[in-house]
Amino acid sequence: METTRGRWSLLTLLMCSFLSNLHYAAADVKFSRLLHGEEHLLLKGEAKWLDQRIDHYNPQDRRTFKQRWYENTDHFKAPDGPIFLRICGESACRGITNDYLMVMAKDYGAAVITLEHRYYGESLPFQDLSTENLKFLSSKQSLFDLAVFRNFYQELVNERFNKSGTENSWIVSGISYSGALSAWFQVKFPHLSRGAIASSGVVLAILNYTDFDKQMVESAGPVCASALRKVTREVEAGLKRDAVATKKLFGAEQLKIDGDFFYFLADAAAIGFQYGNPDMVCKPLEEAYKADGDVVDAFAEYVQDYYVGYFGVSVDTYDQEKLKNTKPGPDSGDRMWWYQVCSEVAYFQVAYENSIRSSEVSIKYHLDLCSNVFGAGTYPEVDVTNLYYGGTAIYGSKIVFLNGSQDPWRWASKQTSPGEPSFLIKCHNCGHGSDMRGCPQSPLQPGGDATKCENPQEVLKARELIKTKVSEWLAEPDKCSSQL
Ligand SMILES: *[C@@H]1O[C@H](CO)[C@@H](O)[C@H](O)[C@H]1NC(C)=O
Ligand SMILES: *[C@@H]1O[C@H](CO)[C@@H](O)[C@H](O)[C@H]1NC(C)=O
Ligand SMILES: *[C@@H]1O[C@H](CO)[C@@H](O)[C@H](O)[C@H]1NC(C)=O
Repeated sequence: METTRGRWSLLTLLMCSFLSNLHYAAADVKFSRLLHGEEHLLLKGEAKWLDQRIDHYNPQDRRTFKQRWYENTDHFKAPDGPIFLRICGESACRGITNDYLMVMAKDYGAAVITLEHRYYGESLPFQDLSTENLKFLSSKQSLFDLAVFRNFYQELVNERFNKSGTENSWIVSGISYSGALSAWFQVKFPHLSRGAIASSGVVLAILNYTDFDKQMVESAGPVCASALRKVTREVEAGLKRDAVATKKLFGAEQLKIDGDFFYFLADAAAIGFQYGNPDMVCKPLEEAYKADGDVVDAFAEYVQDYYVGYFGVSVDTYDQEKLKNTKPGPDSGDRMWWYQVCSEVAYFQVAYENSIRSSEVSIKYHLDLCSNVFGAGTYPEVDVTNLYYGGTAIYGSKIVFLNGSQDPWRWASKQTSPGEPSFLIKCHNCGHGSDMRGCPQSPLQPGGDATKCENPQEVLKARELIKTKVSEWLAEPDKCSSQL
């Protein structure tokens, strides 16, 4: 049943793309994972399952796997209300997050649905995650999953409400890597969606992502940046004196490879800026720094209490030995994301001269990790990725890009798409995805509450802009359905 239907959807999909006049066409590990309290903010619904092709690009391979999805129809104005496809990125997807998109769903009478990204959570094509089995893990396969899912759900709505001939109006939305997927979806399948919201959408694959650290320096301000640099220098010296004791100070003695350890420290600092909690990192450090106190101790306390304790990040994530584990489990998402990093998008957050992070975290460190964890020759073809999607030259319309001014990821994002605006949210604690998630993002704010942002006006302005665009997109006549 599924296959005939699937084939029809594919045919309509192809027909529509000819009719449409638009041609062609995340995280690092740490993008979106484990936002503190996220679980409590999920709108729990029943998990549902879709049979999905393992390989969309090989007609001779008809194997399928079960892909998990959720729907929320609390606000849906049946049968013709809009449908928001909330794209899930590089982590398990256990429901629909109650962020600003849900507020918009209420305003527009929209249903919200979400599909777990292949290879994450329970949507596993294979029970063995060895490198050989990861060859179907890519953004391209994932975009195709989304297209199939979109048509599957449209047919479901048609059946439920006994309707035919017309389609609902679709909007896709995502944050970070899923923000990039959202923009790419709009470019690849413009006939399937009226428009895309790309919040901090990282559309540019980058091998030498030094801007990440440069943004950290800017977001931190001179005093905090100097304090963080001092931490790095002193820890480097500490490692030479007594590596075990130094790592132990951070609860990270298991990290045998120094690069893994420095990566862990760099991420611990970055997370504060990324998710809009800069003061959590900077306040104690600046105090110690100004008083000529022990900055390493102050930072170690922050790492243990906040990054590990409160944020819940596990040191294992940085341990290459652990990343080699091919058995699916609660932490296998880290391995999966590293595979995407090592094969497609890189975003290698490397040191530069006088950067905050240690020079141990170099391009070589990343490439060694890729070979060590996935086998020799694993290499991210960033040029191919950017050739395929366009990088920051991505050419698509009806996409809004939004950046937070403090977000170290914003340099992998995009200024604007032709004819559409983009927006930079400027405020002291606006980070990665603040437009959708509010401030701070840990703990998550229900409905993406922006009142705790330092400058809520900036966020509200961006939201108004999103809504203006979404309203415009939704008001357009549905060219595609009427052609069918
Ligand atoms: C569905 O619509 C068709 C045509 O309008 C109608 O004949 C049929 O009775 C409807 N079925 C249900 C279950 O409402
Ligand atoms: C990476 O970028 C930095 C500048 O930010 C530059 O100094 C360095 O040479 C680059 N490395 C490579 C391998 O391109
Ligand atoms: C978003 O970030 C990109 C990449 O750094 C930057 O070029 C652009 O100016 C930002 N967007 C806006 C609207 O400022």
